Amino acid sequence: MIFQILSYIKYSLIAKSVYSIKDKDLQKIAKHIFDEECDYYAFVTMDMLRKKMWSDQRSIQVTDFGAGSKSSNANERMVKSIAKSASKRSKYAKVLFRIIEKNNFKNCIELGTSLGLSTGYIAKANSESKVITFEGCPEIAKIAKENMQFIDVKNVDIQIGNFDETLPKYMGNMNSNNHFDFIFIDGNHRKEPTLRYFEWLLEKATEDAIFVFDDIHWSKEMYEAWKIIQKHPRVTVTIDIFEMGIVFLNPKYEKGDFVINY
Ligand SMILES: C[S@@+](CC[C@H](N)C(=O)[O-])C[C@H]1O[C@@H](n2cnc3c(N)ncnc32)[C@H](O)[C@@H]1O
Repeated sequence: MIFQILSYIKYSLIAKSVYSIKDKDLQKIAKHIFDEECDYYAFVTMDMLRKKMWSDQRSIQVTDFGAGSKSSNANERMVKSIAKSASKRSKYAKVLFRIIEKNNFKNCIELGTSLGLSTGYIAKANSESKVITFEGCPEIAKIAKENMQFIDVKNVDIQIGNFDETLPKYMGNMNSNNHFDFIFIDGNHRKEPTLRYFEWLLEKATEDAIFVFDDIHWSKEMYEAWKIIQKHPRVTVTIDIFEMGIVFLNPKYEKGDFVINY
């Protein structure tokens, strides 16, 4: 907790506006993805789903895989409590939506489905896209599946099991022509697995792919992972918005690490 508070103070002191990004193309993208006025009808549907989950009284058995939730490690949890503690807030889920919509991304992957709130934003951003999302806990994944029906999306495939097994298996079965252009990593918030998943996914990432890492300031080790990702030879630009880190691979951009107010 102390780490997060100190990190937030540091972030607040150094974060700048999108105008600190000098590359005009990149600045244009940044302006769009962080434009909170930029609303879509899909956001209304996603708000309805969030409200539904926030009041869901069902109790389910949770299998905890990664670093888990800092607020509770209990095995039996109420759906509403999972929705409140694990799901990305709408302000940030909208960033995922705008990245995909702006870039017309069609091949999206998410590690950490949970109840499918972020998945919904990803899937609704482009109905022609294919979204593969991975979740370890079968009971949570079952509710995520119901939720995809509730919001009427048909482009989502939920893979159930530990990422350590399901991800390499899925990637091993991929056609050699298939690649990912949008990658959201929001599960198992530890340094070693985060870096390992990044390396695996890089093998299938297109040149213009964008990665988003959740909770880069969540712990010292997540921040260390973020620092290593920033220095990776395939990474050109990174944008830190505190709750998430956005990573561009496109070599057309001048190398730079930005800390942006959002
Ligand atoms: C923070 S939640 C995801 C929240 C979701 N992206 C959202 O914003 O709505 C992380 C999820 O990842 C899953 N998870 C963590 N580590 C995992 C692993 N090693 N294998 C499979 N699932 C894992 C957890 O079960 C949890 O549901």
